[in-house]
Amino acid sequence: MTIAVRPAIGPPAGTDPGQAGHARQALEARGIVKRFRASGKDVVAVAGVTLSVERGEIYALLGANGSGKSTLIRALSTLLEPDEGTVTVFGLDIRKDELAVKRLINRVSVEASFFKKLSAMENLVYAGRLYGVPASEARIRSRQILVRLGIAVTRHDEPLEKLSRGMQQKVAIARAFLTSPALLLLDEPTTGLDIRSKREVQTFVRDLRDEHDATILLTTHDLDEAERLADRIGVLHEGRLVVEGTAAELMGRHGTRGSLEDVFMSITGRKIDENEPSEIAGER
Ligand SMILES: Nc1ncnc2c1ncn2[C@@H]1O[C@H](COP(=O)(O)OP(=O)(O)OP(=O)(O)O)[C@@H](O)[C@H]1O
Ligand SMILES: [Mg+2]
Repeated sequence: MTIAVRPAIGPPAGTDPGQAGHARQALEARGIVKRFRASGKDVVAVAGVTLSVERGEIYALLGANGSGKSTLIRALSTLLEPDEGTVTVFGLDIRKDELAVKRLINRVSVEASFFKKLSAMENLVYAGRLYGVPASEARIRSRQILVRLGIAVTRHDEPLEKLSRGMQQKVAIARAFLTSPALLLLDEPTTGLDIRSKREVQTFVRDLRDEHDATILLTTHDLDEAERLADRIGVLHEGRLVVEGTAAELMGRHGTRGSLEDVFMSITGRKIDENEPSEIAGER
């Protein structure tokens, strides 16, 4: 089934990424640093990350708990001001051109906030209105996206609190796609989902990229997901981007037995499901 997502509601006039600075890079981050002060100690969550994502690319940031993935995503999405560094989105500076940039990007996180007493549909129509999507359009489009994500029509009008956590997570993903963002920042879109739901989300992400010229930066703990979905993978370790490349390149360079798990282990000295040292020491 093919759904015409982008043509139905394009980006607002003047914010088409094609017009915005003619940049081939969808995202260009230089020297991003973000420090936090927690219980009297300085935590360097992101320690100087330089990263670019090309238009149409799916880029996976792979990192253990506490490696700085969410902080980086928040800094890239204008949600959090970095202490150092610059970010451009389709050639637009996220500080100077914040409003235009906000129309081009959307971010999904697992802790998405919703009105739990309202249905998935009501939440999505509400979100659409905030972005200027007419309710009738939002309704049609939400139905299509939810079905495509594996949520049956019979569940669309139930209060969100009655849906499983995985389904609620999919509603968050649906919300991000409702406005046809040119650049999507997905913070662990599939963490906690069962295998089948993971696959549905992964297929959806890939199809959207293929059909609608979307660019996607996602974070994950899931090596298989990174390999399956991403054109390029960057490994984040203690707030630094320690290596990047295609899965094949990484395995060629670092894999002793040819798996991404070995690559991760050889670069970071630990398994991806082990926490970063600061997390283990409870220094949060
Ligand atoms: N608001 C905050 N105040 C203090 N420290 C923070 C804050 N947010 C993040 N940190 C710290 O910054 C570091 C990176 O955290 P971040 O949430 O970015 O990691 P992550 O890679 O997203 O981890 P996870 O896989 O668990 O989601 C951690 O040491 C974390 O404790
Ligand atoms: Mg995180």
